[in-house]
Amino acid sequence: EKGVYDHYMLKEIDEQPAVIRKLINAYTTISGDTRIDEQLLERILASDRLYIVACGTSWHAGLVGKEIIETLAEIPVEVHLSSEFGYHMPILSEKPYFIFLSQSGETADSRQVLVTVNKKGYDSLTITNVNGSTLSREATDTLLLHAGPEIAVASTKAYTSQIAVMTFLARALGVKKGIQAACRFDVAYEMGLVANGMDQLISEKHEYDRYSREYFLNHAHAFYIGRGLDYAVALEGALKLKEISYIHAEGFAAGELKHGTIALIEEGTPVLGLITNQATAAHTRGNLMEVASRGARTIVVAAEELASEGDDIVLPSVHPLLRSLVSVVPLQLLAYYASLQRGLDVDKPRNLAKSVTVE
Ligand code: M6R
Repeated sequence: EKGVYDHYMLKEIDEQPAVIRKLINAYTTISGDTRIDEQLLERILASDRLYIVACGTSWHAGLVGKEIIETLAEIPVEVHLSSEFGYHMPILSEKPYFIFLSQSGETADSRQVLVTVNKKGYDSLTITNVNGSTLSREATDTLLLHAGPEIAVASTKAYTSQIAVMTFLARALGVKKGIQAACRFDVAYEMGLVANGMDQLISEKHEYDRYSREYFLNHAHAFYIGRGLDYAVALEGALKLKEISYIHAEGFAAGELKHGTIALIEEGTPVLGLITNQATAAHTRGNLMEVASRGARTIVVAAEELASEGDDIVLPSVHPLLRSLVSVVPLQLLAYYASLQRGLDVDKPRNLAKSVTVE
């Protein structure tokens, strides 16, 4: 139940560090090894390509998961929207393996793909919060998110727990393959730092009330930009904002703005830039300067290691591969307060249901 909270969404944002700690216990041993069924790992390693299939926020988590799996396990990964994939399947690799990401495990668009996958006789894994859900029952294997019930329509803790579970899985696969990047990656320790970092951001949540008022209150449009993993998080941050505050928000690859979207920038348009990747930090800062010179009100969210003076939000230090797990928290909080400030129904936004059971 909501307890001391006015809304489930804020409660669920707050629960994220505890969920990460729970996942450390569920998916690692005391000695720091990953704890995932060996046969499941073997089934995945028998494939030559992973296809992650999901909708909405779960699809956004898949985009982050792709990078983590490719880095730690060196297996190629494609990420697809369920509603597109089912009827427009690309030419599959010789030995495809399917991963369904679904908080509820009941999303009809994803189930429709699983039915096809089963007909074709391929193995699959559902990563879900709900044991015994349809997608869990119908897939070959299941890994649980252990996030506890998520009630708010806007998904928060399911997103971070999906990324975390994919990280444990990627680590286990990489170690089994003997990949150095995975063997060196102390996943329990790094996830512990993530949980602490989330705690720090959440303890300063009232700051985001102020930021949200300052950045978004009098605006109908907002843009979130980033590159690589930051682009994936930009998409998620923008979805959170539009879903519950009804502000028109779009996530863009930072380098793409100048190929068209920059025409939308007006005096005062909020543009939030995520900077957590060293290789692209300078370019994204350049893109922020381009929009600022056309009147945008820029908001910089930067990793501590890459922060410059004057950056608005500086993220606590975590492993570079796991920065999405902390960078999303300020965006969740900004969306929450933007909705609250507009007097909207935070937990039950208009036109939306918690689980979408029609195609
Ligand atoms: O239960 P699922 O993860 O399959 O749901 C997928 C989407 O419907 C869901 O993530 C939706 O986008 C959320 N409302 C976003 O906050």
